[in-house]
Amino acid sequence: MEAVILHGGQGTRLRPLTHTGPKQLIKVAGKPVSQWILEQIRDAGIRDVIMVLGDNTPTRVVDYYGDGSRFGVNVTYVYQGKARGLADAVYKVKDVVSDRFLVYLGDNLVPYDLGKFVSFKGSCSILLAKVENPNRFGVAVIRDGKMSRLVEKPKEPISDLALVGVYGFTREVFDVIEGLKPSWRGELEITDAIQGLIEKGKEVDYEVVQGWWKDTGTPRDILEANSFLLDKHAERRINGVIEGSTVDGRVVVEEGVVVRNSVVRGPVLLGRNTKVVNSYIGPFTSVGESCEITDSEVEHSVLLDNVRIKGVSLMDSLIGNNSVVEKGGRWQRLVIGEHSLVIL
Ligand code: DAU
Repeated sequence: MEAVILHGGQGTRLRPLTHTGPKQLIKVAGKPVSQWILEQIRDAGIRDVIMVLGDNTPTRVVDYYGDGSRFGVNVTYVYQGKARGLADAVYKVKDVVSDRFLVYLGDNLVPYDLGKFVSFKGSCSILLAKVENPNRFGVAVIRDGKMSRLVEKPKEPISDLALVGVYGFTREVFDVIEGLKPSWRGELEITDAIQGLIEKGKEVDYEVVQGWWKDTGTPRDILEANSFLLDKHAERRINGVIEGSTVDGRVVVEEGVVVRNSVVRGPVLLGRNTKVVNSYIGPFTSVGESCEITDSEVEHSVLLDNVRIKGVSLMDSLIGNNSVVEKGGRWQRLVIGEHSLVIL
């Protein structure tokens, strides 16, 4: 069995971060979203992983994952290019998968034991979860314990059980995709493909996931995922240098980090070679590699790599790679890229 991780799509709601890379590579709690997925797949015993690449800087995905050996899996790549829909992306793996395979949307995090998928029954199996805003998702209608109908982004409230972005398929799905027509949003929908399997009388199995899961499509989703993952995985591990500082609780301090005259309260992650001076880092904050935090306060935020902040107080913030945020004098001095958000 192979696992397919989708890396396409535009990531418009995460601009400007997605101007320079696909959303699946945004680091949450120290790792790209799709690396959390890859490790979940590997831990379920699946070794062959296929990454489907979109047209937003696909080489970044290849540069990061390489042949997969660094992560204990074999990674191969298939190019989708323009985002023509999830069913189009799945069809692209037709020549490289065996009879049964798993598909995982590369921006969804679903803490679920994927081991169960290795032995899924029928032609298809999907994970569902109860949601409050079903019109944002594909939903499934269940009658007498059986899957009766699937609708992508329903306008009418027909079900509150959303598809959470993890699918098990047999090769039968390819025949159905060949007969699909684009939806109202111009995409070949995987939801329609599964509906096609039901109409052919095939068995579509499902499981309702309890607890937290996330489609990390917006900055708020990224911050929420960061909090969840730090809370679940952060363990106290101090590898850097701590001078004249208080470091409380589950704080991960990577190699090369210096924390001086500061207070850090976990769960927090400080990436390699980061410097924290005269500052406060509060709970649910991930700081990337080679950052400099001086005379500042940061809480419930994600700072990606090589970020420099000075003299500022940040909360609920997501700061992209190589950004600088500094307090100046009376005048604010800004160099702002497309689609940025600044609240002063
Ligand atoms: O989050 C779960 C939802 O994901 C499901 O409930 C929906 O049924 C499913 O259609 C999907 O809806 P979204 O509108 O959120 O899909 P999005 O466009 O964000 O794409 C999901 C992932 O697949 C994302 O990692 C990008 C990737 N993708 C998307 C398209 C359209 C591709 O790789 N190729 C594509 O053509």
